[in-house]
Amino acid sequence: MPFMRRPMFHDVQLHQAKPVSSSLHIVSIVGARPQFVKLAPISRAFAASGSIRHTILHTGQHYDDNMSTVFFDELKIPKADVNLEIGSASHASQTGRMMEKLEQWFESHRPDVVLVYGDTNSTLAACLAATKIHIAVAHVEAGLRSFNRKMPEEINRVATDHCSDRLYVPTPTGMVNLHAENLAQRAIHSGDVMRDAVQHNIELALSRRTKTQKHNDNEYGLLTLHRPSNTDSDVLFSLLKVLDTQAQKTMPLIFPAHPRTRTILEKSSFSLSSAIEIVEPLAYLDMLVAVKNAGIVLTDSGGLQKEAAFLGTPCITLREETEWTETIDIGVNQLVGTDSGKLVAAVEKVASGNTGFDEQTELALDSHFGGGDAAQKITDDLLRIFR
Ligand code: UD1
Repeated sequence: MPFMRRPMFHDVQLHQAKPVSSSLHIVSIVGARPQFVKLAPISRAFAASGSIRHTILHTGQHYDDNMSTVFFDELKIPKADVNLEIGSASHASQTGRMMEKLEQWFESHRPDVVLVYGDTNSTLAACLAATKIHIAVAHVEAGLRSFNRKMPEEINRVATDHCSDRLYVPTPTGMVNLHAENLAQRAIHSGDVMRDAVQHNIELALSRRTKTQKHNDNEYGLLTLHRPSNTDSDVLFSLLKVLDTQAQKTMPLIFPAHPRTRTILEKSSFSLSSAIEIVEPLAYLDMLVAVKNAGIVLTDSGGLQKEAAFLGTPCITLREETEWTETIDIGVNQLVGTDSGKLVAAVEKVASGNTGFDEQTELALDSHFGGGDAAQKITDDLLRIFR
């Protein structure tokens, strides 16, 4: 039998096997905390369409309740239909185990489209497993690049974009990146589903949580650190030392520690002053309130850089590069890497009242990240292309 190539976006006219009235079976693959946030607006838009049969498959990459279950509960995402319970392992083992189980599931259910999100090992595993057995793949949050090939997430992004049929791109910069890799033909600028999620949930979050706030608004900072480049070496301790000194001088920091970071700190003899308070990972609604009311956000997370921008809080990014360059260009995020001089100068800039936000910021954010309708655009496009 000749090799049958699955239709790609550019030969979509071949993809007309289904009558237009039948529902499209899409399986969303999620596994890690930021993916649950991206899934929420998509799942809502799919349900509202009335034309999509949506299956949610959780790889089990993140398994602690406060890294997983609480997101489904708070964001009102239907319980996952399948959980592969893969858990933690080295990159190759984790990705390989996922691929094996995903392939079995894809083979027995033959969904019309596999929808993958972001840049985790779950994203890559699902994309590779589906594409090799000729099931269409669409990628939400495509086109992002840090241009740092030492980040596992960067490898996941590049490989996933090249193997996907349809690419949903949150920002114009992402479109430029895909153009440079000859992938623009399969891509659309959908806007950012994380902006949808913030806009949908912020009022609820503020109404439920204001009483639990321990510090006055703008009188504390919020810190997160989980990237291996920051946590898996002495960089972690030197960063925390500088941050501790700054926290004592300016404002206390709340530090919801990722399990990776907490384990490393617990195994070390490093100690912090009371100006940095380590707490458990925050649930999504608590996190939105904590970001909105903070005077500053210090982070190496991708999602948090944007949530800070969307919620009007200045951000300092503790990485050498960012995929969200728009937040830097707009002026509400400062990229300092691990350079203590730059970090101190950035904190002082914010402490002096220079936050980078003005009356133009909201418009600029809308033009780059969309106005909160990314999930609807993605839903419409999936139905147009694949049904
Ligand atoms: C993953 C993603 C990253 C994303 C991040 C969000 C990859 C390569 N990285 O990194 O893109 O920004 O999720 O959090 O996929 N652990 C627990 N409980 C959990 C989950 C993890 O204890 O529920 C611990 C395990 O010891 C594990 C470590 O955290 O070894 C790291 O987990 P892992 O699945 O490798 O990915 P993240 O570092 O969370």
